[in-house]
Amino acid sequence: MHRDDLSMEFVRVVEQAAIAAARTMGRGDRKYSDQVAVESMRKEMESMDIEGTIVIGEGERDEAPMLFIGEKVGRVGGTPVDIAVDPLEGTNLCATGASNAIAVLAASEKGGLLNAPDIYMEKLVVGPSSRGKVDINAPVEDNLKAIAKALGRAVHDLVVVVLDRPRHERLIAEIRRCGARIRLIGDGDLSAGISAAVVGTGIHAVMGTGGAPEGVLTAAAMRCLNGEIQGKLVLTKPSDVERLKRMGIGDVNKVYATEELAPGRNVIFAASGVTDGALLKGVRFFGDGMRTHTLLMMTVPHQVRFIDTIYASDDPGVKIRF
Ligand code: FBP
Repeated sequence: MHRDDLSMEFVRVVEQAAIAAARTMGRGDRKYSDQVAVESMRKEMESMDIEGTIVIGEGERDEAPMLFIGEKVGRVGGTPVDIAVDPLEGTNLCATGASNAIAVLAASEKGGLLNAPDIYMEKLVVGPSSRGKVDINAPVEDNLKAIAKALGRAVHDLVVVVLDRPRHERLIAEIRRCGARIRLIGDGDLSAGISAAVVGTGIHAVMGTGGAPEGVLTAAAMRCLNGEIQGKLVLTKPSDVERLKRMGIGDVNKVYATEELAPGRNVIFAASGVTDGALLKGVRFFGDGMRTHTLLMMTVPHQVRFIDTIYASDDPGVKIRF
C-alpha cells in the first residue's frame, strides 16, 4: 500500500484537523471542538487519491454523520486503504486548554487494522525494552518488576500513566503498594501510550481501561516504535455483546497482541499536536501564519519523522522564525 506521497497527504489531514480543533481551545465545548476536527479531516480526505474505508471512526453509521465505521473516503480506483481516525483525541483536553490533545490517524492495507467496536479495552502499553516481558493477565507487581528489570532500574524509579477514573481505584492502589510512581491523567491514554514507547519522555508504561478504538491506534503506533500493547475488550453494557457479534468478534476474553490490533505489513501513523504535550507541541498561531508539530511514522520503510511545519501567509513581508 505504502507510498511516500500518501503519508505526506495524511500529514496534511491530521495537521488541518489539529488547526481546526486548536482554534477552539479553551472554549469549554468538547463536542464543538470534536466536530470541527472531524469535518476538517473528512474534507481533507475527499481530495486524496485513495479508496479508503474507515474501520475506526466516530462511531457506527447511525451515530455519526461523518467518519463513521464503514464510510468510504477518497475516490473509486484510488489506492485501497483501511483508515482508523481519532480526529480529536482528548476532546476535554482541548476544550479546557489542557496538555496532550492530538489529531490522529493510522492507515494500512485492507485488513491491516482491527475493526474494533467503540467499547472499553483494558490495556497494558510498554516501550521496546519491555516488549515480550509483560503479561496483562499477570499481577501488576510482576509486570512492574519485569518493566523495571528491562529498563535496568528499580520499581520506584518507574512512572506509570493511569487514566484518573474511579474504575482504576484498585489498580492505582496496587501500583502505589509496589512503590512505582504514577501520573494520573484526565484523558488521552493514546498519547500517553506513544510516550511510553519513546525513550526520554519519562513515561514507562500505561495501565488501565480506556477506549478500544484508541487501543487500535496505539497498536499502530507501537508497530512503528517497536513498543507493545496488550488489550482485552471490556463489556459494560448488554448492547456491547451485540456490537461484538456484529463485528464478528466471538471470544470476549481474548488478549489482543499488538500485531492482532494492527496486523498490517504497511502501517502509517500520523499525529499532530493540538495542545502542547510530552512529545508534540500544540498549534501555534501568530499574526501572519501558524505552526504545527506532527509525528509521522511508518513500518515500511521503517521511519519516524517529527515534522515542524510553518503555514505562512502570502504577505511578502512574512518572517520565518527558527
Ligand atoms: P475523547 O477524545 O473521545 O474525549 O476520549 C479521550 C479518552 O480519555 C481516551 O484517551 C480514553 O481512551 C477514553 O477517553 C477513556 O474513556 P472514558 O472517558 O469514558 O473513561
